[in-house]
Amino acid sequence: MRYVMKGGNPLVGEVVIGGAKNAALGILAAAIMTDETVVIDNLPDVRDINVLLEAIRDIGAVVERLDRHTVKINARCIGSVTVNNEFIKRIRASYYLLGALLGKYRRASVALPGGCNIGSRPIDQHLKGFRALGASTVVEYGMVNADAARLRGGHVYLDVVSVGATINIMLAAALADGSTIIENAAKEPHVVDVASMLNSMGANIKGAGTDVIRISGVSKLHGTEYSIIPDQIEAGTYMVAAAITKGDVTVRNVIPKHLEAITSKLMEMGCEISEFDDAVRVVAKNRMSHTKVKTLPYPGFPTDMQPQISVALALACGTSIVTESIFENRFKYMDELARMGANAKVEGNIAVIDGVGRFTGAEVCAPDLRAGAALVLAGLAADGCSVVEDVEYIMRGYECFVEKLHELGAEIRLVDTDKEIQKYKLSLIS
Ligand code: EPZ
Repeated sequence: MRYVMKGGNPLVGEVVIGGAKNAALGILAAAIMTDETVVIDNLPDVRDINVLLEAIRDIGAVVERLDRHTVKINARCIGSVTVNNEFIKRIRASYYLLGALLGKYRRASVALPGGCNIGSRPIDQHLKGFRALGASTVVEYGMVNADAARLRGGHVYLDVVSVGATINIMLAAALADGSTIIENAAKEPHVVDVASMLNSMGANIKGAGTDVIRISGVSKLHGTEYSIIPDQIEAGTYMVAAAITKGDVTVRNVIPKHLEAITSKLMEMGCEISEFDDAVRVVAKNRMSHTKVKTLPYPGFPTDMQPQISVALALACGTSIVTESIFENRFKYMDELARMGANAKVEGNIAVIDGVGRFTGAEVCAPDLRAGAALVLAGLAADGCSVVEDVEYIMRGYECFVEKLHELGAEIRLVDTDKEIQKYKLSLIS
C-alpha cells in the first residue's frame, strides 16, 4: 500500500485527534485483569490496537466492539496464559499481556517481541521488575515465560527510563501482595493514563507522572468504564504538518499541557501557536528557522516526534542539530528524505541538518511508523508528486491519516497499483 500526493498546498482548517495508541495498549492489557466487564472508549481504530484485541480474544476473553472507538471486554473466561499467535509478534506492546497475566494468574507466556527499525528494543528492565516481584522469568524458544508461586511487592530501580517497563511492572504489581516502588519511572501521559485506568478498577497506585510510583497491591480488580486520553504524538504530527506547509491548523481534542515540548520547539522555529482548553492552533506564515532538538523522556521533547520535527528543520533556514538520545537507530529515514533534496549528515545519534529552500517530489519508503508519517509531511511540502511506500507502518498508529490530511486541503490518496498512481498524476494535470 502506498500514498501518492502532490505537495504545495498549505494545510488549513481543523483536525480532531483520537485516543492515545500508546495508552490504549497498556489499558487493554489492564482490562483483562478483572473478571468483570470493562468498557473502554476513545480507543483509536488503528492496526496495533486491533491486533492486541485479537490476541486478547484469542486467549478466551470476550471482546465486543460497541462502536468504532468503544470496546467491551470480559476476561472471566480466559483459558490460556500463552499468547503466541503469528500476528501478535508484529506488535511490541504484546508484552503488556505478560504483566497483566502474571498479575492476575501468577504466570504468563508471551511471544518475545522482535526488535524494530528504530533499535534493538530489549525488555531486560521489564524482566528485572517481574523478578523483583518474586517471579521467575525464562526466555526460550522465542517466548518470554514468567511465573510466581507468590507475587509480592518489591522495590525496582529502573536502569533506564522505560515507558514499557514502567507500565508492565505497574500491571503486575497492582495485584501483588504488598507494596511496590518503581524508581526512575517513566512519566509519559500514557503511563499516567494506565495508572488512572487501574485505579478506576480498584488498584492503589500513587505517583504516576513522577519518577517514583508506589503501588499497594490489592486482592482483586473490578470492572470500569474508561476513556483514553488524546494522542500526544498524533496531535504533534498535525502541528508539524501545519508548520511545514505554512498553513493554519487548529488541532482539536488535545491536552495542551502534554504538547508543551512540541509547542515551544515550534515557536522557537517561528510558528505562532495559540492554546485553548482542548485545542491548539498552529499558524506558520514564513519559512521556519533553525534550532536544536534533543529527544528526552517526558516532559522532554518526545522521540516519537523526532522524525517529524527533523523534516520541518530540513526545510528551515540555517543549520539545525537533532540529537536522538532514546533509540540507537532512529535516523534511517534521512536517506529517504535525501531523495527529496534534504541535506543532513547523521553521525551516530546526532543529525546535522542544513535547511534547504525546497523539497522536490520523489518515491520514498516508510522505514517505521513515525518516520513514515514524517515522510508524508515532507511530500506535502515538496514541489511535485511524491509516493510513500509501505504505509502499513503508518496505519499502525494513525487513524484516517489520508482522510484527515485531505480535510485540511492536502492532495493525497491511498493507492495500490502503478496504474492508479499514473491515473492520479494525470488527474492532477487535467
Ligand atoms: C514506548 O516504547 C512507545 N511504544 C514508543 O513509541 C516510544 O518511542 C517509547 O515508548 C519512548 O517514548 C509504546 O508505547 C507501544 P522504552 P517502549 O521502554 O516502551 C531502552 C511509537 O512510535 N530499554 O521507553 O518500548 C530502549 O531500548 C513507538 O508509537 C531497555 O534498555 O520504549 C530505549 O532505548 C515507537 N530495556 C529506551 O529504553 C528495557 O527493558 C526507552 O525505551 C526497555 C527499554
